[in-house]
Amino acid sequence: MAYTPNQIKTAEALKPILAETVQLYVLTQNVHWNVTGPLFQSIHLLTEEQYTELATAVDEIAERIRMLGQKAPASLKAYQELGGIPDGDENATAEVMVKALADAHSYIASRIRPLISNASEGGDEVTAGLLTDRLTVHEKAHWILGATIA
Ligand SMILES: [Fe+2]
Repeated sequence: MAYTPNQIKTAEALKPILAETVQLYVLTQNVHWNVTGPLFQSIHLLTEEQYTELATAVDEIAERIRMLGQKAPASLKAYQELGGIPDGDENATAEVMVKALADAHSYIASRIRPLISNASEGGDEVTAGLLTDRLTVHEKAHWILGATIA
């Protein structure tokens, strides 16, 4: 089966989003495990919900890359090369950790936003839909995390 240049372009654009979703997953687990202080319980439970959702998303994004004919990057090295979300600090205060996590959601949202119109202009409504769902999740997480430390 031959893939169109548009499909290849879309798959390439999804690779950094896959990498950053994995990075966000790890960053979220860092907060889940290492957060301390009076907000522990609420942040611990919130981040569990978030990393569980992110794990499902990683699989969906990777499988979309495969449907578009490309191999899904699947190594930590590739994720570091492709992704722009920095590692977390397990010794940071709860406020700093949650702020960094909120910022990471905002950052990935900004990376996803322009790809939605690119995908739909290229006739790929499925990828546009997937990315719209991802954008919704990240905008909501940004709001919830920000409100937690406001
Ligand atoms: Fe846990």
